[in-house]
Amino acid sequence: MALQRVCRSEELLDGRQAVPFDVLYDHQPVRAFAVRHAGRVYAYLNRCTHVAMEMDWQPDRFFDDTGQWLLCASHGAAYAPDTGECVGGPCRGGLVAVPLTERDGVVYWRAEPPFERIEFWKNV
Ligand code: FES
Repeated sequence: MALQRVCRSEELLDGRQAVPFDVLYDHQPVRAFAVRHAGRVYAYLNRCTHVAMEMDWQPDRFFDDTGQWLLCASHGAAYAPDTGECVGGPCRGGLVAVPLTERDGVVYWRAEPPFERIEFWKNV
């Protein structure tokens, strides 16, 4: 299992701005985001279950004004931040969770199936 750095723990504040990162999911590059809710960190693919679109309503903003729910900007689907479960709006099922580890003040995502690290090759 390879740990991939997302950010420092202090960059994720409860109910606030997300930190984006990229993963390979089923061999396709997909944007993902990490948030903090009730003190714990969670991450999901940035892909609404209504229509497979990115959800942020401003860059890296997913939480509603209360900081309790993750909202999709397109048609208002609402998801629980701790489970990714659909709690309202037109979503069909829950968000895809990306496994995280928080250790020594750093948040990592875990590159384990079906998630892989994106490799960047240089032309030589
Ligand atoms: S695309 Fe997210 S609610 Fe429609």
